[in-house]
Amino acid sequence: MGRDNYRVLVVDDDNSIRLLLMRILEGEGYTVRTASNGREAMSLCESHKEPFIEDVISSGLPCSSYVTLQTGELVYVVNMPIHIHLGQPLALSIALHTYPALAAVRSARLHMIVLLIINAAMWGLAAAFLYYMKKVDTLQLTARSKERLTALGEMAAVLAHEIRTPLSAIKGFAQYIRQGQDDKTTEGLDVIINESRRLEGLTNDLLVYARVPELYIRPISIGGLIDEAIAIVKPDERIMIEKKLSLSEDTIYTDGEKLKQVLINIIANAADSQCGKITITAAQGKRMLNLQVTDTGVGMDARVLEQARKPFFTTKARGSGLGLPIVGNMLSAMGGSVSIESRMGQGTSVTVTLPISNGREAF
Ligand SMILES: Nc1ncnc2c1ncn2[C@@H]1O[C@H](COP(=O)(O)OP(=O)(O)OP(=O)(O)O)[C@@H](O)[C@H]1O
Ligand SMILES: [Mg+2]
Repeated sequence: MGRDNYRVLVVDDDNSIRLLLMRILEGEGYTVRTASNGREAMSLCESHKEPFIEDVISSGLPCSSYVTLQTGELVYVVNMPIHIHLGQPLALSIALHTYPALAAVRSARLHMIVLLIINAAMWGLAAAFLYYMKKVDTLQLTARSKERLTALGEMAAVLAHEIRTPLSAIKGFAQYIRQGQDDKTTEGLDVIINESRRLEGLTNDLLVYARVPELYIRPISIGGLIDEAIAIVKPDERIMIEKKLSLSEDTIYTDGEKLKQVLINIIANAADSQCGKITITAAQGKRMLNLQVTDTGVGMDARVLEQARKPFFTTKARGSGLGLPIVGNMLSAMGGSVSIESRMGQGTSVTVTLPISNGREAF
């Protein structure tokens, strides 16, 4: 926009400032006059009826704007009407160097940003600190509970070992005395023999659970292993048992005794589940074997399913609660895993996944 019609009067006793302002304002298109003091300014006003002055005086309103100097510096120019005692009305033009103020604002902004970053970093550090403290707490708890379980396991193993010898003596003598006794005595001795057998089973389970499993890899037949496990469990004859084998080779290399124990424990649970049918599936992948035992029994609710693998958890009157923990121990020693799916009233499906080797390499 052209400013040729606007005239500005610059009053300052400093010659260099007057000159500077004049250049700036002329650069902006103003017609500029200068005066070194009030008197000179008044006489100038007398001799030149400046339209700008008249405009400012008549409106009584100041005007201001930012002007960039040729040096690139920004100055704030204010034009305002002034009334001098008994004198002519004048216009005062003041140029303010905004650099120090802008520098202060910039530095305040910088401080603000630095403060915000420090604040955010502190919050982040505090959150990380809390997170790691919680993690350390959990790890310490887990370590403590592992230590306790290890100690308990060792104690159980010693106890089981010490109980086993006198127990087999009790059972053996009861079996010996039983011969040729009357019915009443036989009945009592049978109770001793059966309970001794049960305790023997429990001590065996405890020893198996407490012992760190060592692996003995050899070739085994999967079909044969499943048949052996079923024969040992001897499920009720009314339970239908179906086997589905989809194997490229029946022989695999693994610790057969441990895998048999795993199958025995899982099939025994299925047989205990009041089911009508047990389906055993074996499928072979490239380097994995999947074994699944599915029953149509009572199933488990969420609470039982969550606890089922914990040592000594049982819902059975004569159960030890060590069946599934032994399965878990043996499979982890063999590099395998077990997963359980169950629905109340519909049945349970236990899946074992096991790495297998072709015999030339260890796994
Ligand atoms: N197939 C299944 N159907 C229903 N419940 C099951 C099944 N398998 C496991 N469970 C539940 O999990 C619990 C723990 O099983 P686990 O085999 O560890 O011990 P247990 O069978 O009770 O005792 P043990 O194996 O010494 O006879 C069982 O008591 C039962 O409640
Ligand atoms: Mg069991």
